[in-house]
Amino acid sequence: MRSFFHPSDIGDLATALEEAKKVKSTPLAWKNLGQDKTIILIFFNSSLRTRLSSQKAALNLGMNPIVLNVGADSWKLETQLGVVMDGDKSEHLREAIPVIGSYCDIIGVRSFAGLQDRDFDYAETILNQFIEYSGRPVISLESATVHPCQAFADLITIEEYKTKSRPKVVMTWAPHPRALPQAVPNSFAEWMNAADVDFVITHPEGYELDPCFVGNAKVEYDQMKALEGADFVYAKNWSCPGVTNPDDYGKILSKDMSWVVDAKHMAVTNDAYFMHCLPVRRNMIVSDEVIDSPRSIVIPEAANRVVSAQVVMKRMLEDLL
Ligand code: CP
Repeated sequence: MRSFFHPSDIGDLATALEEAKKVKSTPLAWKNLGQDKTIILIFFNSSLRTRLSSQKAALNLGMNPIVLNVGADSWKLETQLGVVMDGDKSEHLREAIPVIGSYCDIIGVRSFAGLQDRDFDYAETILNQFIEYSGRPVISLESATVHPCQAFADLITIEEYKTKSRPKVVMTWAPHPRALPQAVPNSFAEWMNAADVDFVITHPEGYELDPCFVGNAKVEYDQMKALEGADFVYAKNWSCPGVTNPDDYGKILSKDMSWVVDAKHMAVTNDAYFMHCLPVRRNMIVSDEVIDSPRSIVIPEAANRVVSAQVVMKRMLEDLL
């Protein structure tokens, strides 16, 4: 695997899920695979789960993880090509990436969407520079449009908790005070479309995700109707993807608090499990009552981030042999 962005990068999902089960039950079984190998994890943005789970996964495989917080630990990096570098950015990605590549075997990058220029974000301009100039396999640790390590962990969690072969999974938009990227909902949609689930997306009008991620999912604008009979409720905020109106890209179109997932919403489901990628703003996205209930699986979901990262890194190491 030369890069990890989409479910297609990992091949057959059933095989990957079986592998995830083995990795979870015997995480140290491949501790020699990564011997003398180094992974550099580059963070342009904050993280708790991705940073720690990626380091833990690398250590389980015997690799040396090195974390670089861009701007805090390093020079600020210029990402735009063709600019006069007379501002506060001291180094360009064009030099920094090949240097980083010369120090490691695998690279993971977190670089959120800027939400200013849809074309720049949706072309994955920064991650594609890492692929082009590093000569190393590259893992998206949440890039402009996708968060595949999260979505793979979400699918592993659904596999563990489902009680029917084809559960109903509903992803619902929920309000947030700040404009957030679309990477998590994009990837969740993409992975659910690839999995054997009955998948429904619900959000206020104007929040339509890019069709390449929505695929064949059912979109239902009535949140309560969408949630009826759900086995899993996946809550997430996202800003306007700019599909229907490009001028609205990255904007907050609604702060409608009736979309906060509370007991009233969960009551119409099939006693659904509640999921969220975290971090979550309590009583903005989900009520205390729901996230503190026994049906909330946000902690095991986060724990599975180690498993998904380890499967991906294991595949990359095996390809390096
Ligand atoms: N879910 C997730 O990616 O968490 P962090 O932003 O803390 O890494």
